[in-house]
Amino acid sequence: MSLVVVAATAISASAQNAEGTPHLQKQGAATQLIVDGQPYLALAGELTNNAATSLPMMEPIWPKVVAANLNTVLVGVAWGQFEPEEGKFNYTQVDGVIAKARENHLHIVFLWFGAWKNGTSSYPPYWVKKDYIRFPRIQVDNGSTVSVSGPVETLSALGDATRDADAAAFAALMRHIKEVDGSTHTVIMMQVENEVGVLRDSRDRSPAANRAFAGPVPAELMNYLESHKDSLISEFRQVWADNGYRKSGTWEQVFGSGKPVDLKIPIQTTTPPMSAFEHEVSWRELHWPSDEIFMAWNYARYVEALAKAGKAAYDIPMYVNAWLQQPNHAWPGTYPSGGPLPQVHDVWRAGAPDIDILSPDLYVPYFDELCERFTRGGNPLFIPETGTSAANVVMAVGKYNTIGFSPFGIDGNRPIPPELAAAYQMLEQMSPVILAHQGTDSITAVRMLQGAQPKQVRLGDYTLTFTYTGRNQRVPPQAKGGVEVPSAMRQFMQVPEDRPSLEAAAVVVSTAPNEYYFGGGGMRVDFTPNTPGPQNAGLGVVEQGRFVDGKWEVTRWIAGDDDAQGEILVLHPDSIVRVQVYRFP
Ligand code: DGJ
Repeated sequence: MSLVVVAATAISASAQNAEGTPHLQKQGAATQLIVDGQPYLALAGELTNNAATSLPMMEPIWPKVVAANLNTVLVGVAWGQFEPEEGKFNYTQVDGVIAKARENHLHIVFLWFGAWKNGTSSYPPYWVKKDYIRFPRIQVDNGSTVSVSGPVETLSALGDATRDADAAAFAALMRHIKEVDGSTHTVIMMQVENEVGVLRDSRDRSPAANRAFAGPVPAELMNYLESHKDSLISEFRQVWADNGYRKSGTWEQVFGSGKPVDLKIPIQTTTPPMSAFEHEVSWRELHWPSDEIFMAWNYARYVEALAKAGKAAYDIPMYVNAWLQQPNHAWPGTYPSGGPLPQVHDVWRAGAPDIDILSPDLYVPYFDELCERFTRGGNPLFIPETGTSAANVVMAVGKYNTIGFSPFGIDGNRPIPPELAAAYQMLEQMSPVILAHQGTDSITAVRMLQGAQPKQVRLGDYTLTFTYTGRNQRVPPQAKGGVEVPSAMRQFMQVPEDRPSLEAAAVVVSTAPNEYYFGGGGMRVDFTPNTPGPQNAGLGVVEQGRFVDGKWEVTRWIAGDDDAQGEILVLHPDSIVRVQVYRFP
């Protein structure tokens, strides 16, 4: 291990190329990540937590992610390994990862595992862990019936020395990244900490936290609420409204009661004992709001100190990630209380203005709903952790303007699903068209499960009706309007009954009047004009193809048997199709 002080030898020392430096830029309703002057779509994967702590162990990971068409990898940096002695930094892992990423034409997002990872504190250095006076821990009190009460080995967000040490290390990391990567831009974004928040109680009950909780809500937060009153997240504003929109007061006066200290916290919030209705709604609500809001403010202030110090060294986009509230973990403390969850986004915006993105770790089966909740108030979407669903990445990109999508544990033992690799290839190819239209009303995405009712989408001058056909099907057995397809043709087209039920998804872009590009599928599309003029639509040109250096290249013309003699457009999974339609009376 080579230990070097801050002024370490760089891989290639160079001045920062301010123009090409990764940054965020608005385009309509979307926020895009700009890398080297161009919008960038991160088709990513996050490595397991400790993968990059050993460069030799990383060797088989690089070809695996390249083969699955990833263009970006999210990689953890452990504070304990990075700063084993206070003020002495070890850049070996970071340099090694950057070098291998370049060799493999990949971009990197580094995850700073500082004071917290999954709400707890397993990544700080030994010199931090063993000094519990200088670096205070949280205290919890779960009521007399729960075994865990008192101090917990989790650092408190109200520890100023912890914050300063964490921020100094993070700033050293950013300084180094600028030195070695300021002109190359392999590193495109930073995650600050990981899934912060208090577990096992709704708030920190250490002496410093209790003192702050009994004091007034800071003026900075109150001023933010006043000046953003009309645009606050609705469930958060409701909490403030329920307490009379007070302009000042203690946390409990302004935001309502916290958890009574002797109340046992439910670890699982399941049905039974909850009613089905309560189970369904409780994970979308604030409980003991002042506790969660108080913690959100304190984590936001702590993280802001890191982001500010980091950006002063090297200013690239920074985000935080949230462990989500969910049906069986609906009360704060069963998920990390104070993390950047949608109901406290306003608190994070007020407390951490240098954090650009509040991100969901999106494992719950309410993908679209959470994309919507995480894009309220103009929050850019970046999904640093999720599963490997190909349909989800298509939706996130086409409908919710995501900057990136990143299944967790991509280096793990299991193979990367071929459907995801194919979706990544399709999206990468289409990215010039997608990125040119993101944030406008000329792009969307549609998903369907087998058996779903057809879906209608207005896009451009047509209403598009999508009907599920399945991943392997070519042309469905029925022609437009329910007319039977001749039996010889049907035999050729039909799909065995035992075909597994799969989700179909496609992104669609209206690029010009009468012109559409589709990526992905497993669906049939019918066009109906929605503007004055002849009210029937025909398939004028159907091309399968690919984008090469941003230019459309036709690989196959589609007509005859492949579109039921010009009557039916079937989108095949993972392929890209350009369609020109026309009207007739
Ligand atoms: C969420 C965390 O952020 C990750 O680091 C990892 O622990 C996963 N959970 C494991 O599912």
